[in-house]
Amino acid sequence: MTEPTNKHLHEANRQSWNEATAAHNSHKVDQAGFLRDGGSTLFPEEVELLGDVAGKRLAHLQCNAGQDTLSLAKLGADAVGVDISDVAIDFAKRLSEESGIPAAFHRADVYDWLDAARDANERFDIVFCSYGAICWLSDLDRWAAGIHDNLVPGGRFVTVDLHPVSMMFNERFELTYPYFGEAKAIKWDDGIQDYVAAAGEALAPSGYQEGVRDFNNPHPVYEFQWDIGASLTALLSAGLRIDQYREYPYCNAAKLFDHMREVPGRRMYPPEGTPSIPLMYGVEAAKPG
Ligand SMILES: C[S@@+](CC[C@H](N)C(=O)[O-])C[C@H]1O[C@@H](n2cnc3c(N)ncnc32)[C@H](O)[C@@H]1O
Repeated sequence: MTEPTNKHLHEANRQSWNEATAAHNSHKVDQAGFLRDGGSTLFPEEVELLGDVAGKRLAHLQCNAGQDTLSLAKLGADAVGVDISDVAIDFAKRLSEESGIPAAFHRADVYDWLDAARDANERFDIVFCSYGAICWLSDLDRWAAGIHDNLVPGGRFVTVDLHPVSMMFNERFELTYPYFGEAKAIKWDDGIQDYVAAAGEALAPSGYQEGVRDFNNPHPVYEFQWDIGASLTALLSAGLRIDQYREYPYCNAAKLFDHMREVPGRRMYPPEGTPSIPLMYGVEAAKPG
């Protein structure tokens, strides 16, 4: 098995995600009860792109604490969640047990897991990732090839993620960062923040509680700003066919900037009076059958 590129950066990110995931979940009330009693953490955009998942073998990459994986399992998917964070995967396994919703969870670097699953001939009908996944990938070509190799012929890759345009602004919605990241890691010394506390109910559909206060993450993170051309080209070069590419003028639940306008459905638009920009995008790609 080949070592993933930039493994040391992935491991640093793991520390930061461990710390933040505990803080994030401290704000969410009775998540097991919420899922058991009919709740779902999925948004309409991914539900629409995914289509009917019942009976499908589905790999959820970078699943964090498994809420979306279990929501997909409730829709009938035979779901496998993968994440590098120990805290996230321990939480996901507990949530599966406590909610009584079966799904498999693996703690692994996504690159290692894609290699291992391919070598074990696992094969999936759907590979899925969402909301803040692609910015942690240090090698898009290797990722896309791993997805391709793990799909059955006719299988599909689906993602809905924050648009790289949304990453060009600081929290005051001032144009600050370049669109083109040039495949270089960007270090954030303050690590993964407590964006669940910032979003409140919007990111805690089971209910919001105070939880951890004044969270400070001691572990820096290393992120990548991939332009849309880079992501789509990686998928195409791996042999996938792009069937849908969508852009949305809002993002789901995340309060990325001050004064975002929230409309029903937990959709967040840029502040009043600003022209529309893409804040989120969706992709459906297929492995030719
Ligand atoms: C914003 S979260 C994704 C949340 C997800 N959409 C969900 O269902 O909750 C990003 C996740 O990527 C994971 N991650 C970052 N780098 C990774 C890597 N190299 N391999 C696997 N997981 C990784 C983090 O641990 C974190 O849980």
